[in-house]
Amino acid sequence: MIVADHVTFQYADSSDPALKDISLKIGDRDFIGITGTSGAGKSTLAMALNGVIPHEFKGDFYGSVKIDGMDTVEHQVEDFCRKVGEVFQDIDSQMVASVVEDEILFGLENFGVSHEEIGARLEKALDDLGIAELRTREISSLSGGQKQKVAIAAILALEPQILVLDEPTGELDPESSREIFGLLRKLNEEKGITIVIVEQKIKLLCEYVKRLVVLDKGSLVFDDVPGEVITHIDMFKTLGINVPPVAELSHLLRLDGLWNGGITLTVTEAEKMVREVLHDPV
Ligand SMILES: Nc1ncnc2c1ncn2[C@@H]1O[C@H](COP(=O)(O)OP(=O)(O)O)[C@@H](O)[C@H]1O
Ligand SMILES: [Mg+2]
Repeated sequence: MIVADHVTFQYADSSDPALKDISLKIGDRDFIGITGTSGAGKSTLAMALNGVIPHEFKGDFYGSVKIDGMDTVEHQVEDFCRKVGEVFQDIDSQMVASVVEDEILFGLENFGVSHEEIGARLEKALDDLGIAELRTREISSLSGGQKQKVAIAAILALEPQILVLDEPTGELDPESSREIFGLLRKLNEEKGITIVIVEQKIKLLCEYVKRLVVLDKGSLVFDDVPGEVITHIDMFKTLGINVPPVAELSHLLRLDGLWNGGITLTVTEAEKMVREVLHDPV
């Protein structure tokens, strides 16, 4: 469990705080999305959730972040990094090896996992991500989606309770992006891993996450289930965040008095709505 309590952080060379008075609770088995426009503070928040901020970035830090009751300011990053695994925005700079299995082994060896255990952990991580056949491939020869899976597998091998991912689908096509979300859901549901995903793809967030947090200029503006957050469509427009077309459609039909149900988040829900509006049952 991570509890952020009134967190404000200002980078040393900046004139404005990147995070302003953020309070947030991340419980066990949560699947949380963090969204907002570029510069909203998403990456800063992601790094504050495992102690990288304030330890590896200079600045003024107020408030507290506690990971299972341990204050991140009072402990070192090493105390948390196995509990809270983080896949950073720029995976190429996070990767250290040139071959897939070495990338995963590097973390395991670095964290002193015993030799007897290493082989099993490596195979399990590859299996969990469905990339066993990539084991001996050169990382430079992989597609973006495959690389992202290797980065996740390398972190997963360390058996974190919480996985924080910063825009993992940023450079992926829609199909690979959906695949990553599907994998994260599986890790959340089947392995009980808490997932925190920073993401701009609001449509995927609405479909997959259990809770959606919206940041704007360092402040937390929403923190609720996606179906509730997305009802503030006008606010999203003001913030410059694109809402999914299916949500917008239900919003417009509501404004016209043609629909009095909720905001639809998926094409299936929207189809049902349109049939009702047109009195055209399946
Ligand atoms: N290392 C840094 N030093 C100074 N300012 C930074 C640094 N990283 C980010 N910022 C600033 O902090 C704010 C939030 O940035 P960031 O957390 O990267 O936002 P996001 O991930 O939502 O795009 C921005 O104004 C950005 O310019
Ligand atoms: Mg970012």
